[in-house]
Amino acid sequence: MSTVVSWEAARKERDRLQADGKRLVFTNGCFDLLHVGHVRYLNEARTSGDALCVALNSDASVASIKGPRRPLNRLEDRAEVLLGLSAVDYVVVFAEERATSAIEAIAPHVYAKGGDYTPESLNEEERQALDRVGASIEILSLVAGKSTTETLSKLYDGESKPLQLGVLGSGQGSSLEGIFHAIDDGRLPDTEVALVLSDQPDARILKVAEDRCVPAVSVDPGPYKTRLGEPAQKEIRDRLKAASVELVILAGFMRRLKAPVLEAFPKRVLNVHPSLLPNYPGLCAWKQALGAGETKTGSTIHLVDEGLDTGPILGQETVPIRKDDTPDDLLERIKVAERKLYPRVIREYAATL
Ligand code: GAR
Repeated sequence: MSTVVSWEAARKERDRLQADGKRLVFTNGCFDLLHVGHVRYLNEARTSGDALCVALNSDASVASIKGPRRPLNRLEDRAEVLLGLSAVDYVVVFAEERATSAIEAIAPHVYAKGGDYTPESLNEEERQALDRVGASIEILSLVAGKSTTETLSKLYDGESKPLQLGVLGSGQGSSLEGIFHAIDDGRLPDTEVALVLSDQPDARILKVAEDRCVPAVSVDPGPYKTRLGEPAQKEIRDRLKAASVELVILAGFMRRLKAPVLEAFPKRVLNVHPSLLPNYPGLCAWKQALGAGETKTGSTIHLVDEGLDTGPILGQETVPIRKDDTPDDLLERIKVAERKLYPRVIREYAATL
C-alpha cells in the first residue's frame, strides 16, 4: 500500500504489523520542497522499523507555520513526491500545526525526528502523546547544510522572486479566481498572490483566498457607507507593504483609494471595471449600458488614480449585449471576458515595470 491513507487505515496497518511482530515508524513534516536532506532522513527513519508512515501538514497548516509564501507545492503534489520514495510506505495528512492527534490515532511504535532536534527539544504536546502511545523516539543523523531554507535562498540569491500581487475586493472574488486559474495554468507565470484584503468582513473573496492558503484580512473601512476612511487607507498601505506587494490588483473593490495607498504604489494599482471606459464609470456599469440601449459593452483594465474609473487604460475586451439580456446575464458574460483579460493585462503590464 503506497498511497495517501486515512488515520484509521494507518492504524490498521500498524496493528497488522504488530501482529506480525513488526514496527511502524512515524514522522511528520511539511516537505514542500524535497531535497537530499529529506531523502537521507526518510531512508534512515525507515531502517528503524518495518514500514514508514509520513504525516504531511495540510496546505493551511504549512501556511500557518511557514508564512504566506508557503507551501511551495500543494498537498497532492507533496504527497505524490513523498510516495515516489522507496522509504515511504504511507502518507497521512493532518490539518493542525502539531501532529499530536495523528500520533494518538495511529499509535506508531517509533517516532523519527530530524537531527536538528533532541528528545528534550521536541514539542512538549507531541512528546506527551508519544509517551501515551508508548512510541520510542529516534533522533536521526543531522544532514548539515541540506535544508529547504538553504535551497530557497540559493534560488532567490541569483534570480528574482515571483511578482507579488496584493488583491483588494469587496464581493464574490470572481476576478481573483480568474487570477488563480491563470497562475495555475501558466498564463500568469512567476506571479504569486501575497495577500487579499477586503472592506467587507463576510466577502466571499476572503474565503476564495483562504482556500488557497493566501492570507486574507478584512479591514474596517470606518463609519462610511461608500468611502474608505483615512485610517483604513493607511492600514491597507501598511499591510500591502508588510507583505512585500509589488502590484496592487483591485478585483471588485468598491471604495476609492486615496493618497496613502496610491502614493505608496505609484502606477502600481490596477482596476477592472465592467464597461468600455470612459463610458459608464461608477456603480453597476453593466446596468447603465443595458439601460442606455447599447448593443455592446465590455471590460476595462486601467491604472488607478484619484478619479472615479479615470486612470490610463491598459486593456479592454468587448462583450455583445443581446436583446433579451437580463443584467445578470450581461454581468456574467462580462466576468467571463474579465477572467481572460485581467491576467493577460497584468502579465503584459508587469513586464514593463
Ligand atoms: C468585476 O466584474 C469587476 O468588473 C467589478 O466587480 C466584479 C468583480 O466582483 N468591478 C467594479 O465594478 C469596480 N468598479 P466579484 O469579485 O464580486 O465577482
